[in-house]
Amino acid sequence: MFTIITGAQFGDEGKGKIVDMMASQYDIVARFQGGDNAGHTVVAEGKTYKLHLIPSGVLFDARLLIGPGTVMNPKILMEEIAMLAENGTTVKPDKLGIDAKTSIIMPYHIALDSLRESKRAVKIGTTNRGIGFAYIDKVGRDEIQMADIADRNRFLKRLEEIAPQKEAAIRDLGGDLSIARSGIEEYIEIGKKLKPYITDVSREINLALKEGKKVLAEGAQGSHLDIIHGTQKFVTSSSTVAGSACSALGVGPTKVDKVIGVVKAYITRVGEGPLPTEQKNAVGEHLRGKGGEFGTTTGRPRRCGWFDLPLARKSIDLNGYTGMALTKLDVLTGLDPVKVCTGYELDGKIIDYPPELSDELARCKPVYTELPGWDEDISSRENLRELPENAKEYIGLLEQLMGVGIEYISVGPGRQQTFTN
Ligand code: GDP
Ligand code: IMO
Ligand code: MG
Repeated sequence: MFTIITGAQFGDEGKGKIVDMMASQYDIVARFQGGDNAGHTVVAEGKTYKLHLIPSGVLFDARLLIGPGTVMNPKILMEEIAMLAENGTTVKPDKLGIDAKTSIIMPYHIALDSLRESKRAVKIGTTNRGIGFAYIDKVGRDEIQMADIADRNRFLKRLEEIAPQKEAAIRDLGGDLSIARSGIEEYIEIGKKLKPYITDVSREINLALKEGKKVLAEGAQGSHLDIIHGTQKFVTSSSTVAGSACSALGVGPTKVDKVIGVVKAYITRVGEGPLPTEQKNAVGEHLRGKGGEFGTTTGRPRRCGWFDLPLARKSIDLNGYTGMALTKLDVLTGLDPVKVCTGYELDGKIIDYPPELSDELARCKPVYTELPGWDEDISSRENLRELPENAKEYIGLLEQLMGVGIEYISVGPGRQQTFTN
């Protein structure tokens, strides 16, 4: 059984929580794209874990895999392994596998990311983790891979080939040239430690599926941050939609059983780019305050708005969701009315699907349906029946308008604060 979970909005939908909740049922949990720009929060056993690279199934016995479509900063990985060890979870090579071809984020990628962003007249608001520049090198066939840092001679030879063009790129942007050759010994030391973790992710997953095991692919970012289908240029540099899990993990699309879209009961975005339902008012402050909407990776305040159905419709198409997980319903408690954007007005016309171009989306004016809110604290409710009537109505409306079943409802950050619909 092969299940893919992706974010249906602009990231931070609660993927970490949903993956943790499902992980006990799976034999393998694999990250397939992105890097430590991701920040996935798991709240369990009285602790809060902020994971950037290690799959969110880490608290269970599942085998964890980091696939070759990801871009990995080995220093961040080591910090994460140490953080987990301090909290009583050991991540040894029998638990975690890293594909030999995983792209390595080098110090020069991070330097180039911030130099380039500082020069942009219109900023993207990247996480400054070197993600875009690591993917440029992957596509440009100038990447350093996991197998390279695990072998001193191979790494040094590869760097000799690459460093001069990195120096030129840094010089062009007015940066410090020494960054092109910095951190080498530290990477070699980490490479030695990570060598036993190296695996062939595609082979492992395909063998597991043949043995009837269960595999969960954990997406990072969100569908509208997809490099191909997102709100360019305000996107990340990887393909974040479900189909990407197949190509990036090396699993054929015929093997997919379920695709779950994680969606907040409202919407947030961190960084720049259009967000038609953004509320720069007391509603936005309510959502940010009650929802703790501050970036897991950068700490930046997230922009908040009402649920955006046209964007949800598009992500349902992009991913082919078989079911949805609705998170953070508890955050809407205390708002009255509760609004759902069902369409947009663009240049005098009403549309129910996002226009393709970002500048057009930025001009869209939301058309809202209003529902009565509720005041009850729902964070300890254990099933749909226990929810206030108005909350049930809200869920019912979203389900009907999306045309995809809401399988899970989350009413708080903890693992237990979830029930099936
Ligand atoms: P991810 O990137 O999709 O994994 O999401 P993040 O971890 O970046 O952000 C989601 C935040 O919301 C985290 O702080 C979670 O602990 C929290 N969270 C997840 N589900 C719920 C929920 O149903 N209610 C509340 N109040 N918080 C939630
Ligand atoms: P998770 O997995 C929310 C956003 C950044 C920026 C844009 C490009 O936690 O949902 P990048 O550093 O990737 O080049 O930045 O993408 N972004 C995210 N927003 N959640 C994330 O990950 C994100 N990862 C990147 O804020 O706007
Ligand atoms: Mg996040």
